[in-house]
Amino acid sequence: MAHRWKNNLTSEEVTAEVLWLNRRQLLSGLAGIGVGAIAGSASASELEPNSWEDITSYNNFYEFGTDKGDPKRYAENLTTSPWAIEIDGLVDRPGTYSMEDILAAVTIEERIYRFRCVEAWSMVIPWSGFELADLLQMAGVQPEAKYIAFETLYRPEEMRGQRFPTIEWPYVEGLRLDEAMHPLTILATGLYGKTIPNQNGAPIRLVVPWKYGFKSIKSIVKITATTMQPPTSWNRLQPREYGFYSNVNPGVDHPRWSQATERKVGQGLFARRQPTLMFNGYEEEVASLYEGMDLTKHY
Ligand code: MTE
Repeated sequence: MAHRWKNNLTSEEVTAEVLWLNRRQLLSGLAGIGVGAIAGSASASELEPNSWEDITSYNNFYEFGTDKGDPKRYAENLTTSPWAIEIDGLVDRPGTYSMEDILAAVTIEERIYRFRCVEAWSMVIPWSGFELADLLQMAGVQPEAKYIAFETLYRPEEMRGQRFPTIEWPYVEGLRLDEAMHPLTILATGLYGKTIPNQNGAPIRLVVPWKYGFKSIKSIVKITATTMQPPTSWNRLQPREYGFYSNVNPGVDHPRWSQATERKVGQGLFARRQPTLMFNGYEEEVASLYEGMDLTKHY
């Protein structure tokens, strides 16, 4: 068995985390690029990443159960290789794109993003991945497309939560095309410079940092370019509570709780809640996408 260090990390994980943190310091020393450019309007101190342990043991992935510990407990046996994404709809090059082909065509980079769940907890997560726009360009999205729809794997043999009708399977999500093409929108394949663990959406999951976490669909097997606003899992289940846009907005409360503040995971029981930022702190980068829209109606 691998030697375990104080945070329950294996020695290998600790090394990865330390190497990664050193690299981040190097990057943040370079004016204008690196962490500053990625962090949006937040200061670097607000972006202290959560530990590997926090990020990989407190999860929402209903395909494995509804308890925060279920994904880590049960996702281990999910087969993530071979893996492919079917891309169809309004694209010039529809087809089945294998993970190998996708990874050969893109450049993996690190992005430290704030992550805000609609349940009012948050983390800071050092993802590795690439811009969704790169994959959409590979497939050649046609100009008539207005939306991009996403679908998670349906495999009840390996995903025990799918044996129960918690939600309508498979999990589906969608973005407007301009949101999908935005440079902050990434497909993540790693955490702390390591392969993304199954419970976080291996081998490839969406990350849209200015939207509530449920938009960031995991373990994607299908992407469709379409003219119609696609159905989304949480909206289908509770349309009054979860809209299509689901932009982080401290001024629009969930019908059952306030969205003004959040609890950063891993801070201890008595830590102060922190204020939730408009568009989760990415206002400067994304507010223009919603100019003229009433965000209290299009929540
Ligand atoms: N994707 C799928 N396929 N199934 C899910 O249940 N949960 C969503 C989102 N993506 C979910 C999903 C929710 S509610 C959140 S908050 C994030 O994944 C959690 O991501 P994390 O566990 O990596 O923090």
